[in-house]
Amino acid sequence: MKIAIINGPNLNLLGKREPGIYGSTSFEEFLAALKKKYATIDITYFQSNVEGELVNELQRVGFDYDGIVLNAGAYTHTSIAIGDAVAAIKTPVIEVHISNVHAREDFRKFSYLSAKVVGSIVGLGLKGYELAIDWLASR
Ligand code: DQA
Repeated sequence: MKIAIINGPNLNLLGKREPGIYGSTSFEEFLAALKKKYATIDITYFQSNVEGELVNELQRVGFDYDGIVLNAGAYTHTSIAIGDAVAAIKTPVIEVHISNVHAREDFRKFSYLSAKVVGSIVGLGLKGYELAIDWLASR
């Protein structure tokens, strides 16, 4: 089973970035533990701060992977192109947000992705990625 985790802008700074909101664990640390826990799943990781690169990666993995866990960061709230890419591909996508976007600024309440994904997990910290993988693995 192949699952892709795709992170958008500024998520490369996890651990350093606003730790009160996003926690103090780097994604690399978290990913190492995740790969250990799900040793039988082939988990790939891609992060970019560039919108088009996220679209390219969704297209690359979106026809033969078994699942995608996508945190598009701020592009969630602005990117029609990423929403279109999610709609265009065959692989089921789960949208994850570390913080509870509904409890923050109004501009974070809208997502161009939510209507196109299988489901969304928000506000549960890094655990959200793990829950998404659990769900995809149990399909
Ligand atoms: C985020 C929430 C977004 O609003 C924000 O722009 C991010 C991170 C989250 O994981 O909580 O970069 O996607």
